[in-house]
Amino acid sequence: MNGQTGTGLIDGFGRVHRDLRISLTDKCSLRCTYCMPESGVPWLAKQSLLSPAEIERVVRVAAAEGIETVRLTGGEPLISPNLIEIVRRITAIEGKSGPIEVSMTTNGIRLPEFLPGLEEAGLTRLNISIDTLDPDRFRELTRRDRLIDVLAGIEAARRSALRPLKLNAVVMRGVNDDEVVDLVEFAIKHDAQMRFIEHMPLDIGHTWDRGEMVPREEILASLRQSFNLEPVPGRGGAPAELFSIDGGPATVGVIASVSAPFCANCDRLRLTADGQLRNCLFARDELDLLSALRNGASDQAVRDIFLAGVSGKRAGHGIDDPGFIQPDRGMNAIGG
Ligand code: 5AD
Ligand code: SF4
Repeated sequence: MNGQTGTGLIDGFGRVHRDLRISLTDKCSLRCTYCMPESGVPWLAKQSLLSPAEIERVVRVAAAEGIETVRLTGGEPLISPNLIEIVRRITAIEGKSGPIEVSMTTNGIRLPEFLPGLEEAGLTRLNISIDTLDPDRFRELTRRDRLIDVLAGIEAARRSALRPLKLNAVVMRGVNDDEVVDLVEFAIKHDAQMRFIEHMPLDIGHTWDRGEMVPREEILASLRQSFNLEPVPGRGGAPAELFSIDGGPATVGVIASVSAPFCANCDRLRLTADGQLRNCLFARDELDLLSALRNGASDQAVRDIFLAGVSGKRAGHGIDDPGFIQPDRGMNAIGG
């Protein structure tokens, strides 16, 4: 691979990559059915997890190539013992247009305890997952009785200065599809934006069934029974299509990854907790940054891995292609 440093992460379809999602651990305090089986998950070996210094090094190189935002994910990032140190190290890195902005996707459990430290370390934004407001459903869906802890996490986020605050729900037929209006009202009360996500084939157990998926159209139809929705223009590369609620200012988002893919505007790369670079949630191949880093790779060599990852990116996820094969890793090991 050649080319000048800093020429940018542009793929064969002209997509410029500015966002890097980093999974800090594949472990989680919940066991959501759409993500993990109840037991028997083959966890990543501890020695294969990237250290804070390794993560910092990768982000430094990626920032010089145009990465501007980093989202920390898991599994559950709050489980990582190094989370705050990692936030501090990344926010200190200068990107091409200012310091790297760091956000996090979390299930909210134990957030009240970590939030002050995270804010102090420079975290800018939070996405919290909440699929149901019913404790029994929550227990069935996540196989843990922890709705109270998640609600406490959302309340802590409401009190914090981190905005915009986003809440995410994967909509599942017969599970929580009758709760979309309640979830929007809940989000508004917490000064947050509710976002509904189409169920994607990403679970380790490979139990996804297209017929079970609640598509964008149905989500919008349910919402329209209670709210007047108007599309908000200016989506850019964002996964969520936004609608104002009853004239605004509140908005709701729909992430139609399956029925209306936004791959053509994708600006994201992903780094797994064990240091594998993925150019798509649904990528079949990964590039081994971990080995490169531990074998003394130069910055130039790390950068070449990023360029190779970007140049090999396919046009789309291909969920609807006859030959579609679900990735071997589950969402917990890829990072949301
Ligand atoms: N389909 C859609 N979204 C998913 N997430 C996890 N698994 C899936 C899936 N199969 C999203 C959820 C979760 C976040 C970590 O990633 O929003 O809360
Ligand atoms: Fe944990 Fe998120 Fe997977 Fe649920 S979806 S088990 S919260 S990593």
